[in-house]
Amino acid sequence: ETVDGGGGVLLPGFVDLHTHLREPGREDTETIETGSAAAALGGYTAVFAMANTDPVADTAVLTDHVWRRGQAVGLVDVHPVGAVTVGLQGTQLAELGAMADGDAHVKMFSDDGKCVHDPLLMRRALEYARGLGVLIAQHAEEPRLTVGAIAHEGPNAARLGLAGWPRSAEESIVARDAILARDAGGRVHICHASTAGTVELLRWAKAQGIAITAEVTPHHLLLDDSRLATYDAVNKVNPPLREDSDCVALRAALAEGVIDCVATDHAPHAEQEKCCEFAAARPGMLGLQTALSVIAATMVADGALDWRGVARVMSERPAAIVGLPDQGRPIAVGEPANLTVVDPDATWTVDASALASRSANTPFDSMTLPARVVATVLRGRVTAIDGEVRAR
Ligand code: DOR
Ligand code: ZN
Ligand code: ZN
Ligand code: ZN
Repeated sequence: ETVDGGGGVLLPGFVDLHTHLREPGREDTETIETGSAAAALGGYTAVFAMANTDPVADTAVLTDHVWRRGQAVGLVDVHPVGAVTVGLQGTQLAELGAMADGDAHVKMFSDDGKCVHDPLLMRRALEYARGLGVLIAQHAEEPRLTVGAIAHEGPNAARLGLAGWPRSAEESIVARDAILARDAGGRVHICHASTAGTVELLRWAKAQGIAITAEVTPHHLLLDDSRLATYDAVNKVNPPLREDSDCVALRAALAEGVIDCVATDHAPHAEQEKCCEFAAARPGMLGLQTALSVIAATMVADGALDWRGVARVMSERPAAIVGLPDQGRPIAVGEPANLTVVDPDATWTVDASALASRSANTPFDSMTLPARVVATVLRGRVTAIDGEVRAR
């Protein structure tokens, strides 16, 4: 199959360092197959599937299974993220080496949704990961600092009486882990940076030469806590939507390279987990099919990034962070490549019910967004074109 990319922008295939695919355990909300379809339609040729499945991906048996399942589906390379600790419980390190040495060649380890709270355990994880040449992805939140916090975040949430999730919970872990990485010599990757203070800490740490990288989600770039006024749980996410001044700082940091890349934190949830009271709802939002358009709206439209910059933050930097061998190097004529074709002049209106994901929890429903993925090519084969996936 050939792609007519006339008038379009040709980009290297996107790489998402942070996707929740829910298989095994919650196949009612997403599977490797439905999530792969959403990824292909969103322009992705590689996604990193987070470890907080049920059972948790804390053994090579499970991480290898996820990799092989993704290859069988064939729409996107599904790289499993291994759990740092057994069962995400945060008391005992998992066998990172077995997962790194398996068929999946696990490159990144995380306890997303349950960060490694114990500083000694985190130091040991960094030391172990250093020897393996892999990195630890830190969901930076210290839950003990939410005790007594008066606001979900910011003045809007305080006025609305939402439960606490203060910026200190994020920033204290970012600062701690930067210093642990400095002294352990390991590499730490900060998941979903969400505050202006985190940006300043990253700037400081990078200036010291500390091996720290960071990602930001499309939703934290575009949406602020004024969205919470409706109490609609579709806006509930960890870390929470913050203040407009945080969005501004995050956009500037991404343009500048202080934040390295965009990652979706695609987090499907069932309708009954999102229709309840805000406090009881599950945190998380879909992201794979809307990421490129939200980046176009927040970064390209005002000139903060050109398309060369989009290639950097959505493909080259994330590929380099995990050391994907085939991404970001010059391709010879005739060699199979990972590519995404974007129509920069298109606009489209998001319809939550029409997304390929098995869930519909997108905060961008009914929004009209700029730019659209026209086609995605994985190793020379079209995986998505004009809004339809092409199974092998
Ligand atoms: O909003 C979130 N949802 N943040 C996380 O860290 C975990 C994720 C999930 O698994 O639903
Ligand atoms: Zn935690
Ligand atoms: Zn997280
Ligand atoms: Zn996550």
